[in-house]
Amino acid sequence: MKTFLITGGAGFIGSNFIQYMIKKYNNINLINVDKLTYAGNLENLKDIEKNKNYKFIHADICDKVAIENIFKQYNIDYIVNFAAESHVDRSINDPETFVKTNIEGTVNLLNISKKYWSVDEDVYRDGCKFLQISTDEVYGSLGKTGYFFETTPLCPHSPYSASKASADLIIKAYFDTYKFPVNITRCSNNYGPYQFPEKLIPLMINNALNHKNLPVYGDGLNIRDWLYVEDHCKAIDLVLKKGKIGEIYNIGGHNERTNIDIVKFIVSYIKENVDVSVEESLIKFVKDRKGHDKRYGICPDKIYNDLGWKPETTFDVGIKTTIDWYLNNKSWMKNITNGQYKNYYKRIYGEN
Ligand code: NAD
Ligand code: DAU
Repeated sequence: MKTFLITGGAGFIGSNFIQYMIKKYNNINLINVDKLTYAGNLENLKDIEKNKNYKFIHADICDKVAIENIFKQYNIDYIVNFAAESHVDRSINDPETFVKTNIEGTVNLLNISKKYWSVDEDVYRDGCKFLQISTDEVYGSLGKTGYFFETTPLCPHSPYSASKASADLIIKAYFDTYKFPVNITRCSNNYGPYQFPEKLIPLMINNALNHKNLPVYGDGLNIRDWLYVEDHCKAIDLVLKKGKIGEIYNIGGHNERTNIDIVKFIVSYIKENVDVSVEESLIKFVKDRKGHDKRYGICPDKIYNDLGWKPETTFDVGIKTTIDWYLNNKSWMKNITNGQYKNYYKRIYGEN
């Protein structure tokens, strides 16, 4: 029975991944280590929290003692490192927290797993793997044409993407120097259920539902390449099982949209299906993000060809499912905005 250490599993993608894996496999153990920052919410996992193959541990990935204790107690086979400060706007105001978690936290996980997985010099226990969940933002920004390939030089612009790129380089160094068994995935923008409402899609859905302004940065013509979160989870599962050690895999589905198109789509869907009084006049063009990357576009040919992954959810289906999820889970949103998940945590785990 393989044991997975999932870090940041109470966040958006991590909690979707845990739910996906628990439903798919009954012969694995999942340990979720999360610091429960503002972005971590155990309510995301309430459907599976009593599953005998799942365990939550409240800890910071930077905490050497806490992480080492986990390795002493459990025979960890895989680390899937989702834990991160993930929001670009926050990184512009507070780069230091990003350096701590995204770089130092990753190094701490590498050092401790290396210690417990080593069987000889540069030889590690059979089948173990460290998977870093990275991002397409490490490549920087594209012009009107071209794509990011795994070989594209790293050129991050924000403190967030620079911290993720730094972690990627350290991980590459552990492979090059110690032959440490790693993979890195670099995915494009995710959307779907349980995404914290600071990110574009959930922010716009919830503001529109509450007749609040829809703040679009700059001219709204920046382009992101959107992938439904479940497709990302399937790709991660595949890279864990079949990814060649030391390789990087881009993940994306050639689904580029301007921000203004996304916002207009959300407004028109809500107007047509939920509330006829929601209008495009809610859209407000506001001051641009500092250093705002113009366009992201992933070339996913390597994971298509080498591992046989392809996205399964079209944008039309995924965005409607996502809007419907937020509509049907208004209490989740209310708890988030009132900080109520902390009480949920106390109720379930009896501490803060
Ligand atoms: P998120 O902000 O929703 O969740 C991050 C989780 O990490 C939270 O549960 C938080 O409590 C936890 N965390 C933060 N600091 C921690 C620490 N020091 N120790 C332990 N836990 C800590 O983020 P997300 O959108 O789910 O992204 C997950 C990962 O995927 C990140 O590494 C991000 O860089 C990467 N990624 C995200 C996207 C996207 O579109 N959201 C795309 C590509 C890659
Ligand atoms: O590309 C992958 C990355 O996608 C991940 O690595 C990050 O963790 C994730 O946060 C996301 O980063 P972005 O900066 O692309 O996502 P965000 O949702 O913050 O913004 C998407 C676009 O929408 C971006 O061009 C900025 C714009 N935007 C965002 C917000 C929050 C607005 O116009 N208005 C807004 O209010």
